[in-house]
Order: sequence, then C-alpha cells, then structure tokens
Amino acid sequence: MHGLFITFEGIDGAGKSTHIATVAERLRAAGREVVTTREPGGTPLAERLRELVLHEPMDPLTESLLVFAGRRDHLVQVIEPALARGAVVLCDRFTDATFAYQGGGRGFNLHVLEVLETWVQKGRQPDLTLWFDLDPAEAARRRGAERTPDRFERESLGFFERVRAAYLARAQAFPTRFVTIDSTRAQARVAEDVAQALVHRGWLPSTLAPRGLA
Ligand code: TYD
Repeated sequence: MHGLFITFEGIDGAGKSTHIATVAERLRAAGREVVTTREPGGTPLAERLRELVLHEPMDPLTESLLVFAGRRDHLVQVIEPALARGAVVLCDRFTDATFAYQGGGRGFNLHVLEVLETWVQKGRQPDLTLWFDLDPAEAARRRGAERTPDRFERESLGFFERVRAAYLARAQAFPTRFVTIDSTRAQARVAEDVAQALVHRGWLPSTLAPRGLA
C-alpha cells in the first residue's frame, strides 16, 4: 500500500478536529495503519516550538521560521517514515496554515514562505487537503468562551477574514489537492462530505462511509 498524506485546514472554530478522529476510525476499519498528528507540533521538539508560537509575542518572520523549524522536525521524525512504510498520515494543519495565517493573517511575504517551503519539504505536499470553510463570525461564536484563547484565537474578525481569503486562494491555486468542505452544515452532513472525498479517490470503500452515501 502507498502512504497517504491528508491534511485538515480551516480557521479556528471551523470544527476540523472532530472529523480527524472519524476519518482515522474509518481508515483503520478499512485496514490501514493511521498516524494522527498536528502542526505546529507532532514531535517533542516541535511541541515545544508550538508553545512558543501560540503564546510568546514575536514578529511574523520569527513566527514563520519557528513553524517551519517544527515542520522540518515533524517531517523527518514522523511524517516521512510513516509514509515510507505505507501508513496514512492525518495531519491537523500543515503548510497551507502558514500561507493562511502568516501570509494572509499577518500579511507576511509569500515569496519568503515559498522559499522556506522548498527548503523544508523537498517537494513533499499533501495528497489531499480538506479545507473546512466557515464564516469567521460563526467560527468565533462556535469557539465561544470555553477556554483561554491563544495568540491566534485572540485575533480580530478582520484577521480571520484574511486567513479565510488566503485559504480560498490556496484552494483555487491547487484545485486537485484541495476539497472545500462547507462547514456551516450539521456535523453529520460535513462528515458525509469528508468520507465522500476519500471514497472518490478509492481510499475508503463506500461500505465504510456514512449511511446515505453507499
Ligand atoms: P489549532 O490547530 O487550532 O489547535 P487547537 O485546536 O488546539 O487550538 O491551533 C494552532 C494555531 O496555530 C492556529 O491558530 C493556527 C496557527 N498556525 C499558524 O499560525 N501557522 C501554521 O503554520 C500552523 C500549522 C498553525
């Protein structure tokens, strides 16, 4: 079996995390080895960098260098070995988040991000990116006040509008890799779309997709 690299993207509050667990369960039921991981993070070193990125004030270049440093360690230690042994890697955010948050949200230079991407990834790109798209005002409502917000979650609606616009630009630039998931709908409907994206690619038998699809 070939390894598969699937990434999950969207603004904070769009609801991607719940779906990662469901996809992992379905792919395991289909007999695949599944590795679930996240960015920033995914290794002990990258998790330490995550803490800094989420909580320490810093300029956008420093922020970009730290997310790419963590990404490099994550690729070398976890993602590439898993793909080499034929596993499915489900990653909660990857480089599209850098283009969206640092590029779109912070307005940082996209060309510098592309250079860092080339150095860090050596051509590695996700096989599929599921973009959970949601209006920023609705996402803020869903985030609610249940926990202390990090540096990104404290950002304005305008910041998240720019992040969303940058995700849209990525989806348009890479139409075969990206699938846009309308996340305004009920969770069960969203889960159907997610499963369908995998069934269409032949990565999940339709018998393991939610009812209504098969
Ligand atoms: P998130 O994935 O939303 O985790 P949680 O569900 O625990 O809040 O948080 C990660 C934050 O990091 C998110 O606000 C987006 C940001 N981020 C970047 O700014 N650049 C990046 O390259 C990545 C991967 C994440």
